[in-house]
Amino acid sequence: MYSDKVMDHFQHPRNVGEIENASGVGTVGNAKCGDIMRIFLDIDDETHIIKDCKFKTFGCGAAVATSSMATEMVKGKTIEEAMQVTNKAVMEALDGLPPVKVHCSLLAEEAIHAALWDYAEKHHIEIKGLQKPKSDIHEGEEDEAEEY
Ligand code: FES
Repeated sequence: MYSDKVMDHFQHPRNVGEIENASGVGTVGNAKCGDIMRIFLDIDDETHIIKDCKFKTFGCGAAVATSSMATEMVKGKTIEEAMQVTNKAVMEALDGLPPVKVHCSLLAEEAIHAALWDYAEKHHIEIKGLQKPKSDIHEGEEDEAEEY
């Protein structure tokens, strides 16, 4: 059911933890399954390169695996490049997720966006394509998510 990459990132998640005095912190949840994700970013103010990224979660295995992969993918990228790290890109990097678990990958994407939003607000900058994050990713989710 799960790819080897998903199992690997679930069993050995990368970048778990917190960053003290992080440049940006974002927390999102999914009220439906009750899972929560928090992402910490350390961003270089001059170059806008994400020097470090960590996550903490109270979430399912798919949420752990996607966050592990997503944090790996945004590290070393600029903010603009990190905006391209969508949940689809993360799922592809993991060789896919079962359809009922796709929503879990949104937790990582939204939490990264929330952390970027936090950074942008603190520094009074605008990040192209970044929308004000939702704190609950279940809002606006379609009802096809009934299956779990
Ligand atoms: Fe809630 Fe996966 S994030 S079930």
